[in-house]
Amino acid sequence: MARVSMVVNGKKVAADVDPRTLLVQFLREHLRLTGTHVGCDTSQCGACVVHVDGRAIKSCTALALSLEGAHVTTIEGLAHGTVLHPMQEAFRDNHGLQCGFCTPGMIMSSIDIVNRLGNDLDEHTIREELEGNICRCTGYHNIVKAVKAGAAAMGATAKAAE
Ligand code: FES
Ligand code: FES
Repeated sequence: MARVSMVVNGKKVAADVDPRTLLVQFLREHLRLTGTHVGCDTSQCGACVVHVDGRAIKSCTALALSLEGAHVTTIEGLAHGTVLHPMQEAFRDNHGLQCGFCTPGMIMSSIDIVNRLGNDLDEHTIREELEGNICRCTGYHNIVKAVKAGAAAMGATAKAAE
């Protein structure tokens, strides 16, 4: 066992883990943050995407021990109390989900896309950037609409806070 500590959704956490523990296992099994999903064992589906130090990563591809001291945000860390993040609102308003299994990873990836590429995203860019996130239900149409709307809403929220 080895000691690992990091900041998850703004809170300091520490645990003794098997050195082979993946970040997604650490989040789900040690911290009970089960909003981060596991949809494959081949690093393809994107259901496990979280933010590490502000960038999206697939949490099934990183060892928890390699993230000593990192700042991690999961889907549980996005809302402020009962107020959803603009990207969460956009998925809800645009029916960007059906079963919801892919949704946490989709939302975490989408926020990262906006952080990297800005608030005015076209459909082609969104589809290309979401290449690493697989949805088996929706046919993607409403997801793309949701990301476009969420990106714009994130811009409006940031402006209002200036
Ligand atoms: Fe599928 Fe991580 S669980 S990419
Ligand atoms: Fe079911 Fe995407 S909503 S997998």
